[in-house]
Amino acid sequence: MSAVPLVVLVGPMGVGKSTVGRLLADRLGAAFRDTDDDIVAAQGRTIAEIFVDDGEDAFRALEKRAVAEAVAGHAGVLALGGGAVLDADTRALLTAQRVVYLSMDVEEAVRRTGLNAARPLLAVNPRQQWRALMEARRHLYEEVATAVVPTDGRGPEDVARAVLDALEL
Ligand code: S3P
Repeated sequence: MSAVPLVVLVGPMGVGKSTVGRLLADRLGAAFRDTDDDIVAAQGRTIAEIFVDDGEDAFRALEKRAVAEAVAGHAGVLALGGGAVLDADTRALLTAQRVVYLSMDVEEAVRRTGLNAARPLLAVNPRQQWRALMEARRHLYEEVATAVVPTDGRGPEDVARAVLDALEL
C-alpha cells in the first residue's frame, strides 16, 4: 500500500498525541492510528508487559517495524510512541512526512502524567526522569518536525486547532 499519512504526531508521552490525534482525524474526516495500539494488538500484551518481559530493546524493535508499516500504509492521522524518534532509520523515514511535534515543558509533563505505572519509563523519580528524557529527545523531535505546537496550559481542542493552523489544513 502506498498511502501517506496526512499528519504524523510526535512528542513525549502524555502530551496528548492520541487525544489530539483523534480530534484531528474527526476534523479531517480521516482515520486515526496509534503505533502503540498497533503493537499492543499484534502482541496481545500491554506496553508495560512487553518492557518487563522482553526489555526496552525488544520493544524498540517492535516499534520500529510498527512505525514503518504505519507510515507506509496509513492515509489518516498517525500518532507515534514518545520514543519512536530515538531510531535513526525512523527519523529518516519521517523527513518525507508532514510531522507535528507536540511539545510541553517538564513541569507540565510531571503535572499531566504524575506517577503512572502504565508508563514504564516514568515509574521512579518522575521529575528527574522527565528532565533526562526531554534533554535526550527534544532535538530529535525538532529534527523530524515540520511544525512545533506547544501544548503547555492548553486543552486538546485548542491544540488540535493550532495543529490545523500550523499545517494550513
Ligand atoms: C515511550 C512512550 C510510550 C510507549 C512506551 C515508551 C517512550 O508511548 O511507546 O511506554 O519511550 O517515550 P506514548 O508516547 O504514546 O505514551
